Amino acid sequence: MTEPRRFFVRTFGCQMNEYDSERIAGLLEADGLVATDEAGDADVVVLNTCCIRENADNKLYGTLGHLKSEKERRPDLQIMVAGCLAQKDREVVLERAGHVDVVLGTHNVHRAAELLQESRADGRSIVEILEETVIDDHDRFPSALPLRREVPWAAWATIQIGCDNACAFCIVPAVRGREISRPVADIVREVAAAARDGVTEVTLLGQNVNSYGRDLTLAARHAGEPTRVRPLFAELLRDVGAVDGIRRVRFTSPHPKDIRPETIAAMAEAPEVCEHLHLPLQSGSDRILAAMHRGYTAERYLERLAAARAAIDDLAVTTDIIIGFPGETEDDVERTLEVAAEAAYDSAYPFIYSPRAGTEAAAMVDQFVDGDVVADRFERLKVVLERSALAAHERRIGRVEEVLVEGPSRKDPAVLTGRTRQNKLLHFTAAHLRPGSYATVRVTGAAPHHLRGELVDVVAPPAHKTRLPLLVG
Ligand code: 5AD
Ligand code: SF4
Repeated sequence: MTEPRRFFVRTFGCQMNEYDSERIAGLLEADGLVATDEAGDADVVVLNTCCIRENADNKLYGTLGHLKSEKERRPDLQIMVAGCLAQKDREVVLERAGHVDVVLGTHNVHRAAELLQESRADGRSIVEILEETVIDDHDRFPSALPLRREVPWAAWATIQIGCDNACAFCIVPAVRGREISRPVADIVREVAAAARDGVTEVTLLGQNVNSYGRDLTLAARHAGEPTRVRPLFAELLRDVGAVDGIRRVRFTSPHPKDIRPETIAAMAEAPEVCEHLHLPLQSGSDRILAAMHRGYTAERYLERLAAARAAIDDLAVTTDIIIGFPGETEDDVERTLEVAAEAAYDSAYPFIYSPRAGTEAAAMVDQFVDGDVVADRFERLKVVLERSALAAHERRIGRVEEVLVEGPSRKDPAVLTGRTRQNKLLHFTAAHLRPGSYATVRVTGAAPHHLRGELVDVVAPPAHKTRLPLLVG
């Protein structure tokens, strides 16, 4: 009997990509391949790419450079480039790296295994990019595909693809297309199936989750159905929380301009929805926010944040901030530092602005900020962010937190790592606990990016839920 072929998937970028990677891995497994953790052992290497920021391009073409010599040694090796960069660059991927076998876009993940087979049979490279996802075709929408989860206790669920906003710096609308929401019933069904497989934590994914369902309402109206504009995302949060077996619901990302009181109420009231809000600020300067087309001012942002904190007990807040947007002045940066300090984030992702060809901001070449100036501003921002992260973490010392156990810590196998409801990494000392189980841990120490603690108790699974989803019969 011949050995099955092995595949290796490397994911760049965001959680949307991690989810697509699980889909691609599921399809290859269904096709008889087996997963390996070693790219060097693999007969198929899949690079699931991101194009949000420039270093992702560099990383991809760097990795492809290494794979070229590997392929010269083993001509049977197949290389597939998937994801946003593939969708955006299309044939350019082959022009820059002719040894790639398949270039697969973001709208046709379902074709991964077939295209690899076709390319192998014909001995030629294939580029297949669609302009739009075919969402009303259940066989093709990603949810209908097999899937290989990274960990058995956590699942992603795409609730919406694409983005209808036009942030001046962002390439996402160009590569992921317009906003399309999946029907609530499909999402709840998918989460219920995951829960039956043993998943207890689900993360809902969308570029702008607060506008989830807007297109569904419009389509229903267009079809002459009586509809009112409903806060569908808030209802979805409650429905997903009501699924039996689900203990934690997370989501990313809401847009500050669209976050609604109903969403905040659902977070406050549904016990499964975790106390964590990732609310991308991008800039604290109103002038820059306007140039970015973000649709809010710093004051508005801080008001919404205060409302969320007032309603949701023990809310952790994280953010994304861009430094060096074209035209950014010293005053703008000062304002960003002030607003970031006032927002007192638990953690934050600061990014250096990177021009993405085809976006509005990329054309503002005459206003690009000098690299050294940007580097200095970036360091100053990091100081502010680390200070508030450490302060937020120190405030937790002495508290008892529930963690979802992930396994032994990478640095010290005698220490276990878990995630709190606020999505913080908590390293704690305890004898072995099963990954995927829940425990309570007393926090004894804090650092900007993690907490330390001691085991208090193991938490038993909760009883069956009596709440029923609101929307799904
Ligand atoms: N340059 C730098 N950062 C960017 N982001 C998106 N586009 C760019 C860009 N061109 C950041 C934003 C967004 C996060 C996912 O990536 O902060 O929220
Ligand atoms: Fe990009 Fe703005 Fe859409 Fe987010 S909301 S994906 S930053 S265009």
